[in-house]
Amino acid sequence: MTRVALAFSGGLDTTVCVPLLEEEYGYDEVIGVTVDVGQPAAEFAEAEETAEALDLEHYVVDARDEFARQCLESVRANATYQGYPLGTALARPVIAEAILDVAKERGCDAVAHGCTGKGNDQLRFEAVWRASDLEVIAPVRELGLTREWEMEYAAERDLPVEGGNEGVWSIDTNLWSRSIEGGKLEDPGHVPSEEIYEWTTAPTGETELVEIEFDEGYPVAVNTVGGTSTSSQPTAGGGEEMEPVELIEHLNELAGSYGVGRTDMMEDRMLGLKVRENYEHPAATTLLNAHEALEQLVLTKEERDFKALVDDEWAQKGYQGLVDAPLVKALQGFIDETQKKVTGTVTIKFQGGQARPVARESDYAVYSESAASFNTETVDGITQADATGVAKYHGFQSRLANSVAKKVEKPELAADGGTDGSTDANEE
Ligand code: ARG
Repeated sequence: MTRVALAFSGGLDTTVCVPLLEEEYGYDEVIGVTVDVGQPAAEFAEAEETAEALDLEHYVVDARDEFARQCLESVRANATYQGYPLGTALARPVIAEAILDVAKERGCDAVAHGCTGKGNDQLRFEAVWRASDLEVIAPVRELGLTREWEMEYAAERDLPVEGGNEGVWSIDTNLWSRSIEGGKLEDPGHVPSEEIYEWTTAPTGETELVEIEFDEGYPVAVNTVGGTSTSSQPTAGGGEEMEPVELIEHLNELAGSYGVGRTDMMEDRMLGLKVRENYEHPAATTLLNAHEALEQLVLTKEERDFKALVDDEWAQKGYQGLVDAPLVKALQGFIDETQKKVTGTVTIKFQGGQARPVARESDYAVYSESAASFNTETVDGITQADATGVAKYHGFQSRLANSVAKKVEKPELAADGGTDGSTDANEE
């Protein structure tokens, strides 16, 4: 008795995989696993229905908490890839692990996915699965299937797939982002119509101010503190902490209603293909903007500069689905250390499709108003005049280098007495 666990969504690809795993790969039994990372309810209904019609043993695993925590971890790393907040990317390892758990529990010999050989998801799933001793199967890629072939095969077999859905878009939704690709959107020159958006409404003139509270880099509470919209009455009591899933869902709704978090981009996939992607991610944009604003206040310049490098590496690994790489653990050590100070609040103004930080506060602020102010003369015994020496030295090396270059390139000009003062400096 051989058994394979299939990552199952009830869509065309994974539906045709069920009979193919039996007929082409010779498995006695296929089980389907759908992992909940915050997809809309209709997707689970579709998966359930299709599984039933296929007589498929079907499991639904709730991984929303774990995924939400991973999303908030990505906020601490300010993680975006070419401008995209990694919703699909971060979900894949979580889904792959959950499927592996079910596969092991049910004594499966193999795991399978319905990804094509062109995208990123095949790589993200398999990076997790290939660490186990189960066989990994990718029928769509291995059998070279096309959508057209799959439609025909499904019709021949009378498989339960929804027809008439072709030529529209391919959508991937979870807590962190909604991605829309394919169809007309494949043409980079095509202007998308409003109908592709579901989480964001076109911006109105209304505004809303929310205060986001961070504890060691993790967002923990959201309070409305003002604005023009009738719904933006200050939250009574306020300050109540929210669980990650709840906090993300709340901000998706709120920021989405101000049109926050739309991205229309050309994305470089791991295989090197460029693809046109549209995304919606209101909560991600809000939290990333707020978190960065707080870091600006509490981290030193050196920490910020270095963290940008760490963050970029973290995001690259996140995009690749390699969050268990030893490198990520090491980066995480740096991130955890810096985040100890990222505690405080940031006020975000929702307006015109933007989530703009407009105020920030923290006990850890590396900021002295009296030192920066134009209204004070002496700070810690240092006066304005003390900057004179610094100003004299500032740019010294550039001045010297430029005058040397001039002398080498045009010695005749340098001979009639230089036009800069750097020769004096050189004589010291
Ligand atoms: N290109 C994105 C990524 O690799 C998202 C793709 C989502 N898939 C979809 N069918 N819309 O992370």
